[in-house]
Amino acid sequence: MKKYSVTILTLILLTLVICAPLNNNPKEIFVDDMLSKMTLEEKIGQMTQVDYSAFEDFNDIEKYAIGSVLWGGGSEISDITPQGWANVSDQLQTYAGKTRLKIPLLFGIDAVHGHNNVDGAVIFPHNIGLGCTQNPELIEKSARATAEEIAGTGIHWTFAPCVAVARNERWGRTYESFSEDPELVAKLGAAAVKGFENGNLSAKDAVLSCTKHYMGDGGTTNGKDQGHTEVDEETLRKIHLPGYIQAIKENTGSIMASYNTWDGIKMHGNKYLLTDVLKNELGFKGFIVSDWAAIDQLPGDYKSDIEICINAGMDMIMIPNGPREQGVVEETDNGPITKNTYFDFIKYTKELVEENKIPMSRIDDAVTRILNVKYDLDLFNKLTHDKELLSKIGSKEHRDIAKECVRESLVLLKNENNTLPVSKSAKRIHLAGTGADNIGMQCGGWTISWQGEVGDVISGGTTILDAFKNSAPEGTEITYSEDASNAHGADYCIVVVGEKPYAEMFGDRENLALSEDDINVIKIAKDSGAKVIVVLLSGRPLIINSALELADAFVAAWLPGSEGQGVADVLFGDYNFKGRLSHSWPKDMSQIPVNKDDENYDPLFKINYGLCY
Ligand code: BGC
Ligand code: BGC
Repeated sequence: MKKYSVTILTLILLTLVICAPLNNNPKEIFVDDMLSKMTLEEKIGQMTQVDYSAFEDFNDIEKYAIGSVLWGGGSEISDITPQGWANVSDQLQTYAGKTRLKIPLLFGIDAVHGHNNVDGAVIFPHNIGLGCTQNPELIEKSARATAEEIAGTGIHWTFAPCVAVARNERWGRTYESFSEDPELVAKLGAAAVKGFENGNLSAKDAVLSCTKHYMGDGGTTNGKDQGHTEVDEETLRKIHLPGYIQAIKENTGSIMASYNTWDGIKMHGNKYLLTDVLKNELGFKGFIVSDWAAIDQLPGDYKSDIEICINAGMDMIMIPNGPREQGVVEETDNGPITKNTYFDFIKYTKELVEENKIPMSRIDDAVTRILNVKYDLDLFNKLTHDKELLSKIGSKEHRDIAKECVRESLVLLKNENNTLPVSKSAKRIHLAGTGADNIGMQCGGWTISWQGEVGDVISGGTTILDAFKNSAPEGTEITYSEDASNAHGADYCIVVVGEKPYAEMFGDRENLALSEDDINVIKIAKDSGAKVIVVLLSGRPLIINSALELADAFVAAWLPGSEGQGVADVLFGDYNFKGRLSHSWPKDMSQIPVNKDDENYDPLFKINYGLCY
């Protein structure tokens, strides 16, 4: 009996030894080895993401072994040309090279519709327009082109795609949302992830995607930015989760947490949704990054904010403040708030680990996730920008892709008596409206600056007026007056009007009616006797009823970006309309929120509406 058990035991042991997985996974070996060498301070450094503008002295990157630097919407560098950006990222990377372990910095930027902080980059339509293409292959192609431009400047991470499902047009971020339909959002978001990451993060032209903002950002009450998403868990999962499920299937390497609150808890502190659902249930293997100073909004002081969010599953913390903000108290709607800096974050996190309030295993998990991604990106061999990719920024090849996106995103809402296409034998076509010769308005927010601006915000690209001049056949005169005063005698008057640029909470609106000034221009155009074609530039459906009545034809062009040529291509009939609404178009403010699957669904135009020639 005894002999038997000894033999069995030996057999079991032998099997165990033979079958024990020999760890020959180079990534695991590399990351485990790195982790074993790291001090607590170095681990915390990897979890620290500092905004470029927060530094007073870049030697802090070395001193604190900082793991990531971002450029927020308002973070300026002095030379914003492609070469200027490449120089800055190359330069910053050298500070990481001076650290003991030489772990490269991971740079992050909001390339949310092209590499939109770079002067001369191609600006793609914002997501709402891309949503109307309903074309995942095209979205993938646009993300691919954007990735090449990002990588060209030595940056390897974009805070995109936004898979918000905007359910209320009052929300200032509606244009960042592909659709109100979760399925369409999931499909297009996944296509964008694929385009950015190219199936192989180590490729020189791949960039890490950051699917955002997890979760429920588009579902807040009254469309308030950073507000409360007051839905039950079933609804939350049904509407706001599919985008993440699909993005994880495409291996999105990072996910950004959202400012909003659900079930009385800020998402940044919600362990159930960050860890149990995202990491455990959905098997997300990448890392979670916090949004801009968002952990500061958790209840309690900064030290407890850090404890709550890291224990909830946050892996990297986005910190916009540095030495200049130390001790600065800011007056806010919620009373005075002391600004928290990266020094505070590093100091408190260390204390929390030493006090056993954050387990070392949690820190190791966060750092492992970050190092895995750095390894996958082959960042250790990408310490400077790639010259060949740099030369692709603003290239014709990329502009052609953006033009295709513009053409497919246009939605024809009305076309009485076949007003469109514009006849190629027209004698004179008049353009009018604030948006006709205004590339800044075409681009909207998140263009060079956080809020964007009207006028010549970027170099390169084509305004709609210029596009008509380019496309006009010989013998057709193109004229322009902003107020349409000169439309008299023209065959057509194309009135380009709509929203001025904005971003985030600055775009929250209680009134979405097209402005009186814009309606007046349309009236003047109508009185001139010309056929009136309204082209609406907007980040969401506006309340357009009287304008729609006045117009002979009406086109929703969203925020098409730098390639106004795409608009002229379709209006002249060289291409057909393909765009279909990805958001329901409300009749009036009292009808908002209006979404497909509502009871008594009766908007002005239903989702998927769109005419063609
Ligand atoms: C926005 C994010 C953005 C981040 C960095 C935040 O305010 O919510 O979408 O990625 O800033 O600029
Ligand atoms: C930054 C943005 C950020 C915003 C959040 C701005 O100053 O530039 O990137 O999204 O603050 O409030």
